[in-house]
Amino acid sequence: MEIDFWLERWSKNEIGFHQQTMNPYLAYFYGDKGPAAEQREKLKVFVPLCGKSRDMLWLSQNGYKVFGVECSERAVKDFFEENALNYKHAEKDEHSFYQTSDQASVIEIFQGDFFSLQKNDLDNMTDIFDRASLVALPVEMRKRYAEKMAELQNPGIRTLLVTLSYDQSQMNGPPFSVSEDQVNDLYADYFSIEKLCFKDTIDDEPRMKGRGLTSLVETVYKLTRNNQKK
Ligand SMILES: C[S@@+](CC[C@H](N)C(=O)[O-])C[C@H]1O[C@@H](n2cnc3c(N)ncnc32)[C@H](O)[C@@H]1O
Repeated sequence: MEIDFWLERWSKNEIGFHQQTMNPYLAYFYGDKGPAAEQREKLKVFVPLCGKSRDMLWLSQNGYKVFGVECSERAVKDFFEENALNYKHAEKDEHSFYQTSDQASVIEIFQGDFFSLQKNDLDNMTDIFDRASLVALPVEMRKRYAEKMAELQNPGIRTLLVTLSYDQSQMNGPPFSVSEDQVNDLYADYFSIEKLCFKDTIDDEPRMKGRGLTSLVETVYKLTRNNQKK
């Protein structure tokens, strides 16, 4: 799934992955169950492969700073415009850089290739929210993605990772099936991994049923970058 594939999806508006409602796991683990409201202004959440996810809006409205990366200019502009957020645009290194221009919220999005990010781009990052990002990538890119994630993070950064697993013979991705074994293979060298919850969501996913799936298990993990160097 190279960038051109995604740019074409955005240009044809084939964005079935985009959700109108906030992700319930994000709202649970970063809402009432998460850091106290007064601590949140110190927390900055990285949203890789962010699309125009309204989860970024939720994070901002709930006191977190947000930093996204997304290759599609259309997705980035739609995010700000559809959410009626004023924004500024500048060129920075090889990325286009967008950020909210209202004092009330801090949302920054690099429009460019995730794989070209440098460690200093993630300075001050404390948390990562990965929904429909790892699972958007085919198996050979997932390893590169996990290695890049390890390279970008300082010890202690936490990731809330949402994966999907299903019988890959029933449907071609994306989204791809990513099993618990794969999560361990990808991340165990550099992260401690805690499985938080899982649920078969097929009855809530008519789009996936229509593509032939009989089961679709969503699993949520907490990854914490450990001290091992990369
Ligand atoms: C399946 S969508 C998920 C979007 C978002 N996480 C959400 O929950 O709606 C994957 C997104 O990653 C973007 N993308 C894919 N490869 C990328 C790359 N190498 N760098 C930056 N963005 C990329 C695509 O344009 C697409 O918007």
